[in-house]
Order: sequence, then C-alpha cells, then structure tokens
Amino acid sequence: MDRTLAQRLMHSAALPAIYERLWRPALLGLAKGPLGPTTAQEMTLLRGMLVLAPGARVLDVACGPGNVARALAAHVGDSGRVVGLDASLTMLAKASSESARYVYRDRLRFLRADAVELPFRPESFDAVSCFAALYLFDRPFDALAAMAAVLRPGGRLAIMTTRRAPLLGPLNEVFGQVSGVRMFGDTEVESALCRLGLTGVTRRTTGLIQFVAGQRPETPRVSRAAP
Ligand SMILES: C[S@@+](CC[C@H](N)C(=O)[O-])C[C@H]1O[C@@H](n2cnc3c(N)ncnc32)[C@H](O)[C@@H]1O
Repeated sequence: MDRTLAQRLMHSAALPAIYERLWRPALLGLAKGPLGPTTAQEMTLLRGMLVLAPGARVLDVACGPGNVARALAAHVGDSGRVVGLDASLTMLAKASSESARYVYRDRLRFLRADAVELPFRPESFDAVSCFAALYLFDRPFDALAAMAAVLRPGGRLAIMTTRRAPLLGPLNEVFGQVSGVRMFGDTEVESALCRLGLTGVTRRTTGLIQFVAGQRPETPRVSRAAP
C-alpha cells in the first residue's frame, strides 16, 4: 500500500530529530487550541486515564521517538515495564537513543511492528496508550480491536486523536486525503471502544483533538451454587 504524505514523514530521517521538541508542541498545540492542555498536562491526563499501579505492564502503540513511553515509565515502579511499538525504524532509533540517557531506561523496551498486528498474547498488558497516531493508520478500527485484545480484564486503553472541524464540513475529508491525517467523527472512536466491549468509556475534546478512554471489563465472576 502506498504511504500517505504523513506516513512518509514519520519514516523520514529528519522528523524524529525535531519531533518531540518542535513538531509535536507546534502542531498539536495548534490542534488542541489555546485552551488545550500543555504536553505536561496531557501526560497527567493520560496517567489519569490509565490508572497505573506499581508493576504495571504498559504498551504504548505508535510510540514515535518514545516521548509518551518515557512519561509513563516514571510511574510504573521498578518492576513495571513499558513497551513502545512503532512501524518506523527512524522513530525507533530515536526512541532508543533518547531513552538510553533516561533514568528509568531499564523499564523501557522498543520494538518494530504494525499497530494492527500486535505481536503479543491476548491479555498481556494492564494498560495501552495510543497518542497522536490513530489518525495516521490505514486501518484505525482494526488497530483499536488489536489494542483491546492485548488488554487484561480490568485493563485500560487511552487514545488521543483528531476530531473533525465542525465548520469545515466535507473539507475534513479533503484535508484527510491530501495530508494522510484522518479527522474522526465526534462519536466514531468512542463508539468503536463501546463496540469492542470496553466499559466506562469517556471522551474529552479540546479544539481538533479528542481524548477517549475505556476499560476492559473484569472477567465476570462465576457464582457457585450453594451446597
Ligand atoms: C506523531 S507520532 C506519535 C508519537 C507519540 N505517540 C506522541 O504522542 O507524540 C506517530 C507515530 O505513529 C507511527 N505509526 C503510523 N502508522 C503506524 C502503524 N500502522 N503501526 C505502528 N506505528 C505507526 C509513526 O511511525 C509515528 O512514529
């Protein structure tokens, strides 16, 4: 399948070098709008959505240069693990080199894979995050299903992605086709999580960005017949 403009950028050698400090704050800042959360506030929001406990096993899908994975690794304790997964070798190289200097580096692992074909057993993770990436995927809803499948019962999923600009109407689709950045309908991601069986699904919006979270239900308790 041909790569979109946005996907080609993600695989370039140049973008990983400027992504975390320039590209992300500038473009996401614009998309979040003047009242949107700062990057630090976004990470606090993310941790709130994932409810991490010491020892948590976390998967960060489409980790890019590892910025979100590192922000999570500080909160899983020494026995916790954060796996950052991405399709781009150049992003993963940056993730590894940046993380080598990081105090919690032993809690981090990075690997190359596609978000739709997650190379993990079902129910392997306590929490899964996917920030600033779902809008780039060719098959975003299959990726959401793959993320839900690797969550343990009771585990939580947190997504940050785009939303359609209400005033732009059909121009949202034109923008998506030209740039490769898909603009999701207001209830599209939320409904997808509900269809996947996640519960307590919440959604918060700021500008052209939405944060959506949900929890995989605990395994239903089998009630035993009284003797
Ligand atoms: C904009 S970066 C997001 C980095 C980080 N999650 C953040 O919040 O800043 C998007 C990443 O998605 C990755 N990506 C795009 N399509 C993917 C796919 N199908 N599977 C895995 N990663 C993908 C790109 O390689 C890129 O590193």
